[in-house]
Amino acid sequence: MLAVFAKSLSSHDPLSGLEVGERPEPSVTDGWTTIEVRAASLNHHDLWSLRGVGLREDALPMILGCDAAGVDEKGNEVVVHSVVPSEDWRGDETLDPKRSILSERHMGTFAERVTVPRRNLVPKPRELSFAEAACLPTAWLTAYRMLFTRACLQPGATVLVQGAGGGVATALIVLARAAGARVWATSRSEDKRERALGLGADAVFEPGARLPERVDVVAETVGAATWEHSLKALKPGGTLVISGATSGDAPPASLTRIFFLQLSVIGSTMGTREELDRLVRLCVERDVRPVIESEVPLADAREAFATLAAGDVFGKLVLTR
Ligand SMILES: NC(=O)c1ccc[n+]([C@@H]2O[C@H](COP(=O)([O-])OP(=O)(O)OC[C@H]3O[C@@H](n4cnc5c(N)ncnc54)[C@H](OP(=O)(O)O)[C@@H]3O)[C@@H](O)[C@H]2O)c1
Repeated sequence: MLAVFAKSLSSHDPLSGLEVGERPEPSVTDGWTTIEVRAASLNHHDLWSLRGVGLREDALPMILGCDAAGVDEKGNEVVVHSVVPSEDWRGDETLDPKRSILSERHMGTFAERVTVPRRNLVPKPRELSFAEAACLPTAWLTAYRMLFTRACLQPGATVLVQGAGGGVATALIVLARAAGARVWATSRSEDKRERALGLGADAVFEPGARLPERVDVVAETVGAATWEHSLKALKPGGTLVISGATSGDAPPASLTRIFFLQLSVIGSTMGTREELDRLVRLCVERDVRPVIESEVPLADAREAFATLAAGDVFGKLVLTR
């Protein structure tokens, strides 16, 4: 079958190890099932994998991709939850120290077919297209958990989203807005700041800009480049929720500011199957749709990877069949 996979890893030239070509059909083990993939979305995670972060040399060649929407063996339309806990794990899958996500230990979703644990399937509502549904399991689920489970965002609160253009960041803007928060966003690009306003951000700023007032919650995926601004932007008692560090992860910690202003710094990673189920329902009930930059045929995945690596994206890139 046609697949997009990592053949080798390189920290400085991640695209050098990317291959688009034939891979063997997946084999099904007990409790797992095969999905005909109709759409799969790219995440920054796929670039980290090609750099060797979270993906080991001895697992190569590895089919990339965490997210998918498709059709199961009985013809049901489904969304695939990407977090695979160990077999005996009970409760929140994201807290299992032995969990992995698709494309780390088990083959990923950038292929004609993928096998996943049967319990990882969530029904896809007719109202969402395959491309829209394929954006939900990683970037959108991460944003959902950051805002509602981890930061406990309240209606009427002000949230600052750093790096507005990203897959997670666009989801943060749309979901925070849908939940009744006041949403502020930063981006390096004027065009992306304009587009963030179009998504429902109430105000946009250049990175590091002085804000009209301090905010209740900052949602971070950028890391070193915006960390100091994020901490300065918070009200006393405010919450910084972080799920990524695209620009690096060793900024000055600002420890004095954290303890003196009694700030909370909270980590967040992916989300549970139950949270994905609720996110899907929220999209349908409140007419919320993922922000898609473009849909690209699976065979042209290299082009989509290059766009993601260049940081030219606003929202999600989706591979389709
Ligand atoms: N913990 C988890 O479960 C989880 C889940 C999903 C994602 N993540 C992580 O979250 C991060 C974002 O993922 P994504 O898929 O949304 O990535 P993406 O679509 O590639 O977005 C990249 C983002 O980085 C910003 N950015 C990059 N370099 C920057 C710099 N030097 N200065 C300022 N902003 C910069 C961009 O903002 P502008 O261009 O608008 O300025 C944009 O928001 C990644 O590191 C990813 O690994 C973690």
